[in-house]
Amino acid sequence: MPPFFFAIDRFYSTDYTDVPCTIDKMEYKSFTPLSLITGASMHPVKFLLILLALLFIIPPPLQAKPLTIKFSHVVAKDTPKGKAAEFFKQRIEERSAGRIHIKIYPDATLYGDRAALSALQLNDIQLAAPSFSKFIDHTPQLQLFDLPFLFRNTEHLHRVLDGKVGKKLLQQASIKGLHALGFWDNGFKQISANKPLITPEDAASLKFRIMSSKILEAQFRTIGADPQILSFSEVYSALQQGIVAGQENTLSNIYIKRFYLVQSDLTISNHGYLGYLLVTNDIFWQKLPDDLKQIVSEVSTETTNFARSIATQVNGDYLNKIEASGKINIHHLTPDQRAVWQKKMLSIYPDFYNLIGEELIKQSQK
Ligand code: SIN
Repeated sequence: MPPFFFAIDRFYSTDYTDVPCTIDKMEYKSFTPLSLITGASMHPVKFLLILLALLFIIPPPLQAKPLTIKFSHVVAKDTPKGKAAEFFKQRIEERSAGRIHIKIYPDATLYGDRAALSALQLNDIQLAAPSFSKFIDHTPQLQLFDLPFLFRNTEHLHRVLDGKVGKKLLQQASIKGLHALGFWDNGFKQISANKPLITPEDAASLKFRIMSSKILEAQFRTIGADPQILSFSEVYSALQQGIVAGQENTLSNIYIKRFYLVQSDLTISNHGYLGYLLVTNDIFWQKLPDDLKQIVSEVSTETTNFARSIATQVNGDYLNKIEASGKINIHHLTPDQRAVWQKKMLSIYPDFYNLIGEELIKQSQK
């Protein structure tokens, strides 16, 4: 018998064994721990002490701790990516019945986009959804999506993402410690500055903030502008302080980050696309049990569809809010005006045949 039980047993056996005692008019009889098994009545203090001893000696049943996934991104919750991230978290937690818990760090509260990719490779975080341009050092081919005027409309865009091109890019991105899970939409980009931008010449010699992309750099150089790479979190103050004169982004980002408050003119140009690649890392992915892998893959696809179902609406709502604010002049390009920008910008395509692949670009144009 373990010494602790023995001590309890001796104490009760010596003083009280077979001596009936009355507590609140109920009669108890003390006895040895064997009585626990036999079911005989027992002195309550002794019973409690034995119970306590058992609690310390016998470990509680092993309960699997939920797997915590850290998901870092740079935008606010009320954007297509922010909403997609919340949807993804909710569905994963539901479908895994609590076996996976996702902690989202929005608004670059943990990492900026490029730092997020390094953190992901080190398994400091397990999920990120950077815009395609941010993969420049990892999968430069993803800059395909930065090509101006590549997609005629969202139907064309989704056909490319769901077809051979999208599949090839997912494969190409699943290297160097990353595992690509799916594409999430934001939408088409608009351009702003402190003067009306109606023709490409209006943008000449102005400094524009761009994401880290060779294609975006070429896109602005070809219209005689001066592109400057800045991280997303730096754009507002760079515009406010005049470090850059203009920027391009989706309406959700322009509204939420308040760029429209520090620019005088916004041109609805829909000249380029902004989307995201949801990625995890190999260290995490390889260790994930097969059934959870399946849940994560299925929910990624579900979230791609969810993001598609809300993105146009969300961006449209933000255009209404920007308009309603009366803080910025909004210009809608006519088809002829847009065609002039298009012609200028399409001229950069052949410069990227080597980097991205001529075939991939041409297939995407179909
Ligand atoms: C984002 O939507 O993730 C940020 C895009 C940017 O850097 O402009």
